[in-house]
Amino acid sequence: MENKRAQWSSNIGFILATVGSAVGLGNIWRFPYIMGKNGVAVFLLIYVLIIAFICAIPLCLELATGKIYRLDAVSSYEKINPKLAPFGYLCILTAILIPCFYFVVGGWILNYIWIFAANSIPSDFGAYFSSLNSNIFAPLGLTLVFLIMTAYFPYKGVNKGIEKANNIMMPLFAIMLITLAVYALFLPGAKAGLEFMFKPDFSVFNHKMILTALGQALFTLSIGMGTILTYGSYLDKKTNIKKSAYTLIFFDTLIAILAGIMIFPIVFSEGIEPSAGAILVFISLPEIFTFLPFSNICAIIFFLLLFFAAITSGISLMETSIACFVDKFKMKRSHATLLLSAIIAIMAIPASLSFGALSGFKIFNKTFFDLLDFLTSSVLLPFNTFIICIIGGWYAHNVSKEAFGETFFGKILLFILKFILPVILILALIFGLN
Ligand code: PFF
Repeated sequence: MENKRAQWSSNIGFILATVGSAVGLGNIWRFPYIMGKNGVAVFLLIYVLIIAFICAIPLCLELATGKIYRLDAVSSYEKINPKLAPFGYLCILTAILIPCFYFVVGGWILNYIWIFAANSIPSDFGAYFSSLNSNIFAPLGLTLVFLIMTAYFPYKGVNKGIEKANNIMMPLFAIMLITLAVYALFLPGAKAGLEFMFKPDFSVFNHKMILTALGQALFTLSIGMGTILTYGSYLDKKTNIKKSAYTLIFFDTLIAILAGIMIFPIVFSEGIEPSAGAILVFISLPEIFTFLPFSNICAIIFFLLLFFAAITSGISLMETSIACFVDKFKMKRSHATLLLSAIIAIMAIPASLSFGALSGFKIFNKTFFDLLDFLTSSVLLPFNTFIICIIGGWYAHNVSKEAFGETFFGKILLFILKFILPVILILALIFGLN
């Protein structure tokens, strides 16, 4: 029986949704910094090679698996072989665990949009950020608001919710990013900022750089948790997988570089040491914004941009599990959304308290927030990617055929998939754990 599944209403809708999933906090608060810190030219070269010849492969495999089976991750794996179901569940577990800390950041973003919009700007952002987090209810409440806003779109469905959200948010995101990047280029720190990002330094090359690039590329492309597979399951039969995968890679990388062009001139305008992550986004940058021309407007645009990046990624994460609840357990979409939201809300409690009340509570020397981040990015993600590579390379030939086609380039990718990728991913796992 033909499965009556929702379908993207256009190829642009699909591309915007996958770019929306891929472009997230990773592109804005991590990539520009690690690129600058790692000597730019070499790192960028390694990154582009890794993303184009290594990460493109599981990306194509996930899209192809989705396109062929038109089901969620668990059911698709089961169709390949019922014994593979546990690996599908691992993908779903990853897709549930990531929002538990990612959405806490979403809550902080909402809070910052609010303080700049209401013009209630603190004088010391360092102190403000820690007082925000030492409060028990504020970060949790904010996380819940972000969760509800995100859940609304998968609740509304693939076309009316997810596709519509991305069709509106991603173009707005691009306009805001370009506007702020142009603005940043007129700031006094533009030269120093661009130098930090683009001045080649070949002396910094080391093997760790390859792993850093690999980890970043997997996370940024949302590979290894069934998300891309799920979005692939809404494709029509005509879509060319390789072309879609490389389009996604192109935009994801372009946006990450543009984010750097926006961030570092701002950072260097006040002569502050560049950094990454929460400190960069919630302490350094807001502090600097207050000294710049049109400070409030710029800060609001910046945090809105971050909000769009985070929510479109969050939507894709939620859809991964919701599709599983609907396809595999035959739940209604509304019930599935509610159930997933409840799970995330509960698990987000310790993550949101990790910076305040529970900051002293450590497992393996990590707060709950850091533990979730580590477990997903350094363990589950490479492991799940390894599994799909083994399945696609050695077992499900229909999947690799759909993914790579019969071209010469496709054959090269298949060769890398079979003989090189598993070794690289095992190394990534081993080094990631150390
Ligand atoms: N790719 C997103 C980022 O770079 O921030 C994060 C992410 C979204 C990871 C969706 C995984 C995912 F399924």
